Amino acid sequence: YRNLRVALLGAGSVGAQVVAQLQKHGDELASRVGAGLELVGVAVRDIDAPRTAEIPRELLTTDAESLILGADIVIELIGGIEPARTLIMQALTSGADVVTANKALIATHGPELFAMAEQVGAQLYYEAAVAGAIPIIRPLRDSLAGDHVQRILGIVNGTTNFILDRMDTEGQSLEDALATATELGYAEADPTADIEAYDAAQKAAILASLAFHTTVPIESVYREGITAITAAQVEAARSAGYVIKLLAICERVTDAEGIDGVSARVYPALVPRTHPLAAVHGAKNAVFVEAEAAGDLMFYGAGAGGIETASAVLGDLVSAARRHVVGGPGVAESTNSDLPILPIGSVTTRY
Ligand code: NDP
Ligand code: HSE
Repeated sequence: YRNLRVALLGAGSVGAQVVAQLQKHGDELASRVGAGLELVGVAVRDIDAPRTAEIPRELLTTDAESLILGADIVIELIGGIEPARTLIMQALTSGADVVTANKALIATHGPELFAMAEQVGAQLYYEAAVAGAIPIIRPLRDSLAGDHVQRILGIVNGTTNFILDRMDTEGQSLEDALATATELGYAEADPTADIEAYDAAQKAAILASLAFHTTVPIESVYREGITAITAAQVEAARSAGYVIKLLAICERVTDAEGIDGVSARVYPALVPRTHPLAAVHGAKNAVFVEAEAAGDLMFYGAGAGGIETASAVLGDLVSAARRHVVGGPGVAESTNSDLPILPIGSVTTRY
């Protein structure tokens, strides 16, 4: 094997779990890729800050700029706009592929970053930026590229779903539920992004841009958070057979003058308790896609959380690594596992 040099920026809720998963499954991923994945360093703000996973001290650095020099793949998990934007630009310019979970950055500076990637022949991967562990970027960009998406309806913020669920099922206050969501690593560094729906609006902008093959600026996404939702409203919704959910809705629309366009909006909505979205509990997310030929598709799973999001980040890392090895688009069949197929009768089966 040749080794691919991987630089990680950020070792918080997600970054630390990326390190843990790489340590646990690095050899397996290497055989899937056809090259070793060598973690050459981890940039953080404070070397001595507590981490949710053990990271060898010699890997930690506060010098992110130097770390990305010479890296084949840079994983950005710092979050926010700066210095993430500048570091990603530098990484792309130096020829590295970049993996990020940063929806704030993609929603606000996506066109600039994608243009730079195209200019230098690099790739920018961001599967983890929307709905955590749920594969939704690739399905929209690739699998549904031949279809005509009409509408996307989803719960795309784990923290607010966790809070609304706790308010509904346990009568907890918004503040207490937010404190728990923060402890569990679901919330953004500044949780205002979650509860005022900036985060969900950024995800709506990304989903609408992909689904409708356009650029939806974040400023054109209507946004209303959950901070005005009271216990009395939650109770009233319950008595009437509804549950309050923060919904992102992206759809093709026609205005009063017959002009076709796109609408993207995020707000707390009353969802009938019989609707499948009402059964999305805790920090889970769900995204419904209505497409002309495919019909209705539903994507469901963990929308937030360190290890869950690390899954999507590592998927992107494998895609980026495969691109370096085969020089193709990052897609390859993995048939190099030596796992034997065990006969029925020799194993305990379920279902
Ligand atoms: P955290 O706030 O937990 O971690 C951020 C990390 O970045 C920390 O390790 C911090 O260092 C480091 N950092 C901050 N500033 C700098 C800097 N200037 N130079 C170097 N390192 C820096 O964030 P998360 O892990 O929760 O989120 C990371 C990204 O993933 C964000 O874009 C977020 O939106 C996205 N995301 C998060 C999900 C989640 O469930 N948490 C789910 C999906 C996406 P230090 O530890 O020393 O302070
Ligand atoms: N803070 C985000 C959420 C993380 O709660 O959904 C996942 O993007």
